[in-house]
Amino acid sequence: TTTAVQSLLLPPEFELPQLIELKARGRYGCVWKAQSQDHYVAVKIFYMQDKKSWQNEQDIFSTEMMHEHPNILHFIAAASRGVGVDAELWLITDFHEKGSLADYLKVETFSLDNALKFMKTMATGLSFLHQDIMFRASRNGYKPAIAHRDLKSKNILIKSDLTACIADFGLAVKFDPSESTGDSHGQVGTRRYMAPEILEGAINFHRDAFLRIDMYAAALIMWEITTRCVDVPGGHNKTYIMPYEEELGQNPTLEQMVDHVVEKKMRPFIQANWRQHPVFGILCETMDDCWDADAEARLSAGCVEERIEGLRNKTAP
Ligand code: ADE
Repeated sequence: TTTAVQSLLLPPEFELPQLIELKARGRYGCVWKAQSQDHYVAVKIFYMQDKKSWQNEQDIFSTEMMHEHPNILHFIAAASRGVGVDAELWLITDFHEKGSLADYLKVETFSLDNALKFMKTMATGLSFLHQDIMFRASRNGYKPAIAHRDLKSKNILIKSDLTACIADFGLAVKFDPSESTGDSHGQVGTRRYMAPEILEGAINFHRDAFLRIDMYAAALIMWEITTRCVDVPGGHNKTYIMPYEEELGQNPTLEQMVDHVVEKKMRPFIQANWRQHPVFGILCETMDDCWDADAEARLSAGCVEERIEGLRNKTAP
């Protein structure tokens, strides 16, 4: 049967890509590798109950300048297919063969150079996302600050040149001064990556508070990369483990997270010898600064970007 394709962002003659291979499954739905004419694209199919995420993601992707950044996933089109309970919600983006950082870390390791490159480009993408930019020059425009709110290694893709590409904007919020920010309530995201202030159930966050919550998650991701870096003093972990997995297992409850991260103020384990290394030592300090219990003390994405760039220059021959 032919189903009508309706969409805001799809030209009427646009042909839907052919699904080839299921790549990932999440609570939102699933991601397929698909073929569109002579190239591959990624098709994310949302469950109908997650229509809000699909809409939100489109809204974020249609923000001015969001198409132009190498470290932000490139959006192609959105479509809704069919009607009623059988309807499918599609989001079509660039496809990256290596998949997510989480998938990659399960089977691959990083050299120090590549680890720094990935971390640097992740910080570059995040810094761009977080910035509000007024641009004049040839065209007038404005990009509001955007908080991701669900940063984790599953939501960062790894491009073929081993640079980072931030994806999954289903929970992201824009801080456009001309609009009031809607229901940007507190406790969303993935439990394991929740900053202490979210675990505590603090509410009424303002813009900078949301950006700092992203930086906490970014620190956990930097730790994940470091544990799988072959150059780390003492050697890399032979199997990939998620942040807090050793301590709290595969499916920590909210109570366990609160107890561990808020009450006991624990963070992912850093070996003493990492700190003695000229480069890893500074990476560890950067993680410490980004996962600080005091949100206001955390580094901005731009600052992380600069620090890591400094380290890359230090390691360059
Ligand atoms: N997994 C989730 N999104 C993806 C994408 N755009 N390309 C490859 N793998 C993905």
